[in-house]
Amino acid sequence: MNTILITGGAGFIGSHVVREFVYKYPEKKIINIDALTYAGNLENLSDIENCNNYQFIKADITNASSIMEIFQKHKPDGIIHLAAESHVDRSITNPLEFVMTNVIGTVNLLNAAKEIWKDNYEGKRFHHVSTDEVYGALGETGFFTEETSYDPHSPYSASKASSDHFVRAYHDTYGLPIVITNCSNNYGPNHFPEKLIPLCIHNILNNKPLPIYGNGKYTRDWLFVIDHAKAIDLVFHKGENGNSYNVGGFNEWQNIDLVKELCKQMDEKLNRSIGTAANLITFIKDRPGHDLRYAIDATKINKELNWSPSVTFEEGLSKTIDWFLENKDWLENVTSGDYQKYYQKQYTK
Ligand code: NAD
Ligand code: TYD
Repeated sequence: MNTILITGGAGFIGSHVVREFVYKYPEKKIINIDALTYAGNLENLSDIENCNNYQFIKADITNASSIMEIFQKHKPDGIIHLAAESHVDRSITNPLEFVMTNVIGTVNLLNAAKEIWKDNYEGKRFHHVSTDEVYGALGETGFFTEETSYDPHSPYSASKASSDHFVRAYHDTYGLPIVITNCSNNYGPNHFPEKLIPLCIHNILNNKPLPIYGNGKYTRDWLFVIDHAKAIDLVFHKGENGNSYNVGGFNEWQNIDLVKELCKQMDEKLNRSIGTAANLITFIKDRPGHDLRYAIDATKINKELNWSPSVTFEEGLSKTIDWFLENKDWLENVTSGDYQKYYQKQYTK
């Protein structure tokens, strides 16, 4: 493969995937397509923007003709599709936006790939990056495997489930070479501060309340974002055509316990007396349709592709907090909205 096109590369996970590929595969051209919505931030990639094998193209995947034009022009051999609306709370307020990007946008990419590859699929691959949320909610025991039936509950997870079905349908109907990864909750550097961990880091720094939905006993399985990027690299290159792979950390935390661990580490790093941050914990009204528990069985990717997480949660969380403390400008730019001027400054001279 000579050209790999990554969608959503200016977002949280996408930026780590783009960086991984640009450095690891200097002989390949890496094209990042992103619409730069509120969640897209090119500052995430400022360290690689001048690399010879990297190119950014501002484009919206809901626009079929502009996507087709880009595919015709650059003829990518591989697609790694991360562009999405990704925040459950926003999907509750505005479901249609999630249908547009997550469903229609994905189908536009599938159509464009099918068209330029013209049924000659030798050496080609469409990797769809999805979530464990498509499987619905677990009770207090059990794990999601690749065989678990889909049972999405939020507009976000319903739109991602739909996109997964379309990707599989293009494989079954047209033979398109695809792989899908379904990953658990990510955390790490560049995480947008609307999600639980970066929101709490931001609020602790600013002495603001830490909002915990409901009783805080909801459970998520957390994975360090760079471990997810490495899993994507492995599945993209070595995964079995037509297969899906669950990716997760075997690392379950109830939200309240996670936030308490975060508070403890933040107090230590900020030299504040223990208990300062935890005093900010505030229980608030629950999220509607809140899924009780997610937990991934990652045996398949572990056994078949020899992937496992490289850091423990405590280490990953410590690295994440350190990154936010060392990059207060990034956090300030994101919360003030200034990051949206970056594209203007860098790319439209
Ligand atoms: P994010 O919200 O941080 O980034 C999404 C990116 O997509 C942004 O750069 C945004 O500008 C871009 N985008 C949105 N709409 C677009 C459109 N119409 N056209 C082109 N670009 C558009 O998301 P993330 O957390 O990095 O998630 C990336 C992918 O991974 C998503 O597909 C998500 O479903 C999946 N995923 C996320 C998690 C998680 O914990 N965050 C876990 C598993 C899977
Ligand atoms: P989030 O980071 O939004 O990811 P997801 O909904 O995709 O799992 O939320 C993680 C968990 O934290 C989820 O159970 C909802 C909860 N949560 C809060 O309790 N308070 C908050 O302010 C946020 C954003 C999330």
